[in-house]
Amino acid sequence: MRHVLEVDDLTPGELGRVLDLAADPAPPQVLAGQGMALLFEKPSARTRNSMEMAVVQLGGHPMYIQGAEVGFDARESVEDVTRTLACYHGAVGARVFAHATVERMAALDLVPIVNMLSDAAHPLQALADVLTMQQILGDLAGRSVTYVGDANNVFRSLALAGGMLGMEVRFTGPSGYGLGELDADRLASAGVVVAEFDRPEEAVEGADIVYTDVWTSMGQEDESAQRLVDFEGYRVDERLLDAAGTQVHFLHCLPAHRGEEVTSSVVDGPASRVWQQAENRMHAARGLLAWLLGEAVSDAGEGSNA
Ligand code: CP
Ligand code: NVA
Repeated sequence: MRHVLEVDDLTPGELGRVLDLAADPAPPQVLAGQGMALLFEKPSARTRNSMEMAVVQLGGHPMYIQGAEVGFDARESVEDVTRTLACYHGAVGARVFAHATVERMAALDLVPIVNMLSDAAHPLQALADVLTMQQILGDLAGRSVTYVGDANNVFRSLALAGGMLGMEVRFTGPSGYGLGELDADRLASAGVVVAEFDRPEEAVEGADIVYTDVWTSMGQEDESAQRLVDFEGYRVDERLLDAAGTQVHFLHCLPAHRGEEVTSSVVDGPASRVWQQAENRMHAARGLLAWLLGEAVSDAGEGSNA
């Protein structure tokens, strides 16, 4: 049974297949007559709505569940909640604080688990990001993406997805907010190298895509005041976008905090493709689920018969 907790749970070939399926106008009805549980420990606008619609488009019934409602590790253990959901659903998505929670769910191997954002990874976002970049740039091999800000869940998944498709991945952020050794090892295992820059102007020069995300992620609210100080100088504004060159396009996973990590003039400006990117969350989710509950299952079946 396959689970998708991070982008490198897919091979580069499977990633390409998911992106092809995202564009399929008549997706296989892999969830016909089945449900998919969508469990959220944190708020969401895009992920909940795009996943619910993707499930409907694949013939299934989405079931929205708040973490507090089932009481993850409070009313009942994460394992018992997962065992219960597996009785009714063809797949389970979870947005969690600790990445270990989705790992515990997947370890049971009872139902395919999809990570809908954890403190470590946001693979559904990265799938939409590379889909958007393909629509803008065509083949991504040799193209460049510069991420400005915090090397967080969104950046880790973006670096993996972009790197696996042959992109040059660059990062710039304040000291102490870059990738750790474990991240570098994981990226290296996927054949991905991230070039780190101290100066944002140098990092963005010639980039096809400039990408940023919030300075304070969900669950880090206590650090917000310190982060506002530390990230000053890493705001994506018109001056920084100009330093990239006229070819550049701007992406942001959203929600955006205008005036913090990005100015209104950039996120609402002519280089911004953030609404195309937001729409692609639904197409990418549909492509992933079509693969995970379709080809991934039949490929495993063929393997076991061999
Ligand atoms: N980009 C993203 O995951 O948005 P939500 O938090 O609104 O789902
Ligand atoms: N890094 C952000 C992404 C939100 C979609 C967070 O985890 O809050």
